[in-house]
Amino acid sequence: MFRKRPDSPSDSPGATIAVAVEGRTVRVPAGASAAAAVLVAGLPSIRDTPVGGAERAPYCMMGVCFECLAEIDGVPNRQSCMVAAQPGMRIRRQRGRRQTAIGRAAVPAACGPEARGP
Ligand code: FES
Repeated sequence: MFRKRPDSPSDSPGATIAVAVEGRTVRVPAGASAAAAVLVAGLPSIRDTPVGGAERAPYCMMGVCFECLAEIDGVPNRQSCMVAAQPGMRIRRQRGRRQTAIGRAAVPAACGPEARGP
C-alpha cells in the first residue's frame, strides 16, 4: 500500500534515521517523510488552524490536504508529507497563521469567525 519516496536516501532494508520532533528524537525508516516522523512520535497534532486554533495532524500523506504544515529545520509552512526526513532534521509545530516576509498572511473575511453565521 505504501511505497518509499523516490528521493529515499537509502534502499537498505531496515535502515533508520534519527530526527527530532518537537525536541524528541525518534527513529524512522530511511526514506520516510517528515509527516511520518510526526506520526511515529505520537503527537496528536502538528499545527493549529489560524482562525479557530483547532489542532490538525497529517491526514492524506500525499500533498493534498495541507493538514501537515510544520516548521522543518527552521523553515515554516512546509508540507511535511512531501519532505523526506533527513538525519538530524528538526520538525516543530506550526502555530497560527503563516508568517511571510512582509508579516502575517491575511485571512480572507469569508474564512473568519463572522463567516460561520449564527
Ligand atoms: S498530509 Fe495532506 S498535505 Fe500533507
